[in-house]
Amino acid sequence: MSAAHVVKTTAIGSIPLIDDEQQFRLLVQSVTDYAIYMLDPDGVISNWNPGGERIKGYTREEIVGQHFSRFYTEEDRLAGEPEYGLRMAREHGKYEKEGWRLRKDGSRFRASVVIDPIWQDGRLIGYAKITRDITERYEAQKRLELAQRALAQSQKIEAVGKLTFGLAHDFNNLLTVIINSLELIKAHPDDAERVGRLVDGAVRAADRGALLTRQLLAFARGQNLAPEWHDVNGLLARSESLYRRACDTAIDVRFELGEGLPAVFVDAAQFEAAVLNLVVNSRDAMPDGGTIRIGTCLRYASPPDKADAVERRYVCVTVADNGTGMSAAVQERAIEPFYTTKEVGKGSGLGLSQVHGFAAQSGGFADIVSQLGTGTRVSICLPADGEGEGEGEGER
Ligand SMILES: Nc1ncnc2c1ncn2[C@@H]1O[C@H](COP(=O)(O)OP(=O)(O)OP(=O)(O)O)[C@@H](O)[C@H]1O
Ligand SMILES: [Mg+2]
Repeated sequence: MSAAHVVKTTAIGSIPLIDDEQQFRLLVQSVTDYAIYMLDPDGVISNWNPGGERIKGYTREEIVGQHFSRFYTEEDRLAGEPEYGLRMAREHGKYEKEGWRLRKDGSRFRASVVIDPIWQDGRLIGYAKITRDITERYEAQKRLELAQRALAQSQKIEAVGKLTFGLAHDFNNLLTVIINSLELIKAHPDDAERVGRLVDGAVRAADRGALLTRQLLAFARGQNLAPEWHDVNGLLARSESLYRRACDTAIDVRFELGEGLPAVFVDAAQFEAAVLNLVVNSRDAMPDGGTIRIGTCLRYASPPDKADAVERRYVCVTVADNGTGMSAAVQERAIEPFYTTKEVGKGSGLGLSQVHGFAAQSGGFADIVSQLGTGTRVSICLPADGEGEGEGEGER
């Protein structure tokens, strides 16, 4: 484009060779997919190629001599976009941007724009501007994004629908148990043995309802922990009757508690809910009865997601059963919120997600070992003596 590019015209035989400038002009004139045009230092159009005419609709005669800001939308013009583009090109050697531009007929198109300053002997003589119409690509991308968003939204609605349906069923079942029990007690208040049984059943249903609301709150708020120092054996002893109540008589609940365990810094209510979730899962995995072992011990370990970290002490609470166990596929998804293999009304899929969230928020982790047909063992590992201390005696 500059004089430096011009070379002598030569000839081979009778075919004249054209000089660089002519070649260049030919090149620019044959490009129709890109609008390539030149601006003077003030932004007035001094050159225009057929691509410009095709994309923007102006003939060369109509547009040469006009200010290039006429391609911009009114908002962009008022915001000073055209001047800004030239200044950025001048100051940084190039300016690239995507935006909306106007065609001669007033319609908008999505443009990808590049502006390069042209210098000659240290003096700015104008700008080269290349505009590409990317409306189709842009709209296809937008359509794709919209479709993805709609899909995500419909999946969300479906998940919420499923969840609401499951919860409504759950609560209905629990209320039915409680209402029936109360009505039967009212009808035969003197049968002490029967009344005792009905009260136990109603309390169990109410406990399950309370656990469900706790799980939901924990999920909605990301568990609100109010941790304090506790001895895990003490916490387990405090809730022993709750755990036993959750299981029917065909299940033998055994406590195998380690001695002299260091204290852990946990939220007692969430701890109770986590263990209860594990006990309920084990109970559900043993429809014909079995044994649930609730154990505590001290373990040196590194968290599973940081296998190469220095090992430290964890107080582990393990709930083990000899129930159905999980297939590898179920185990892989078991901690996902709302993942359940249970029928509607029997499980909301929040149990293990609460266990996992509680362990992680307490600075520890949860560990699941399960084998189909053999049983499942889930451990909640809590940092001994709080976080950051790997050593220490810990008998508090
Ligand atoms: N001890 C276990 N034995 C066999 N499978 C289990 C055990 N614990 C969990 N699972 C499997 O993992 C799934 C997810 O468990 P999770 O506790 O998160 O939800 P849920 O028990 O289905 O519902 P919720 O706990 O909310 O009532 C269960 O549906 C079940 O398939
Ligand atoms: Mg569960």
